[in-house]
Amino acid sequence: MKAELQNLYETERNRLLELKDLMGDYSSPVFGEGDAFSTIVLVGEAPGANEAEQGRVFVGKAGEQLNAMLALANLKREEIFITNAVKFRPIKRTKTSVSNRTPTIAEINASNYVLQKELELIKPHFVITLGNTALSAVIKATKANIKFTTLKEMQGKPRKLRAFDFRFTLYPVYHPASVIYNRELQPALDESLVRIPEILRGLGYRV
Ligand code: URA
Repeated sequence: MKAELQNLYETERNRLLELKDLMGDYSSPVFGEGDAFSTIVLVGEAPGANEAEQGRVFVGKAGEQLNAMLALANLKREEIFITNAVKFRPIKRTKTSVSNRTPTIAEINASNYVLQKELELIKPHFVITLGNTALSAVIKATKANIKFTTLKEMQGKPRKLRAFDFRFTLYPVYHPASVIYNRELQPALDESLVRIPEILRGLGYRV
């Protein structure tokens, strides 16, 4: 891990923990992991129960889903950097249960500085976003000159953008969890993933 990222995470852990009221009850922020020297970054939505418990992104069932997605793209988890738009688990409580929910705008904003810094430190050439939250959070974090229309319209289409002192290609795809609720999205998600090696070759990667 790059030392600057480690420092960022230490400071941000404390700041995010101070925002407990905004975020409800959660264990601890979950930050990115993987190869911080990679030029490929994947951004998910937010940690779920397993991630909050283990303090790692995409573990358990979500980790298995992610690995299957990466296999279609001919990528390996350890070759890229993986993070989330929101760094803590957004939860919904009833008297008898605790479950995940979509992050609120306030929660996305509270984590956006960390995402911005992660991207600034890594300077990726290729950024894959999973779902709506990740796409809007990356657009916000990079102040990219791009209008968010709909994920349906934008998914599977690479867009060259500029952020701070680097250029990158944004590649939005559906979130794997949304595909579980809406099976009709599966072919489009799979097609977007299978096209990744060809897109990367077009960007000069040897894959
Ligand atoms: N786990 C994560 O870390 N992120 C997601 O978006 C989903 C599951």
